[in-house]
Amino acid sequence: MPTQPNPSIVTLAPTSVGGSANPLITSTLFGEFEHRRQVPSDIVDHLLALYTWARGWPNAHIVELGVRSGVSTSAFLAALEVDRKGHLWSFDIAEPDVPDLFRESDYWTFTQADGLGEKALDTAPREIEVLFIDLDPHSFEQTLTALTLWVPRLVPGGVALLHDTEWPEINYVRPGAADSEVGRALDVYCGMKALEWRNVSGCNGLGILRIR
Ligand SMILES: C[S@@+](CC[C@H](N)C(=O)[O-])C[C@H]1O[C@@H](n2cnc3c(N)ncnc32)[C@H](O)[C@@H]1O
Repeated sequence: MPTQPNPSIVTLAPTSVGGSANPLITSTLFGEFEHRRQVPSDIVDHLLALYTWARGWPNAHIVELGVRSGVSTSAFLAALEVDRKGHLWSFDIAEPDVPDLFRESDYWTFTQADGLGEKALDTAPREIEVLFIDLDPHSFEQTLTALTLWVPRLVPGGVALLHDTEWPEINYVRPGAADSEVGRALDVYCGMKALEWRNVSGCNGLGILRIR
């Protein structure tokens, strides 16, 4: 009987939750996120913020409205993979163009549906920790409707993240957050509900509305 481990067999380091520490097994989604962070996109500078907001919840229920090519989706899935818990429900009226590893992930449920419609509201959990809104055409009415339908589902401490608070350009002039349609909808909604939001500039702007 050998008294020492066989040096020719690789022993994977244990992790705090008893899983494998082999990055090839555990980090495929994180790898995709890291890749997306290197690729120029209209949201690239906010990806770390999306990832950070999605981390560390006891059991994150995340709702994403607007997937397209899955750039924002990659940040949320990476966070869930690293935390090894939680789930992301994503909605888009169009079939998204995303890698197979998203569709194969147990952390993700995609539903092709109107993010403001009954099917989405019935599919998503009643209580959510993180809400992400990135719907074309980013109009005032659409954003106000999305906020009215979805923000009441946020738990205390939960957060709504809205992309394109500084978009679109009008006559080559970039609007500030309070001039953009998404920003104006946030102003009106927060005014009605006595809430506050703040804007992170750049990459078309990211609005952050925390439920205290
Ligand atoms: C700006 S893209 C989303 C980009 C995505 N968040 C990303 O980071 O790659 C907007 C998406 O909203 C979708 N969309 C527009 N109206 C919608 C609606 N009412 N319900 C669901 N999706 C909608 C479009 O099909 C499009 O894919």
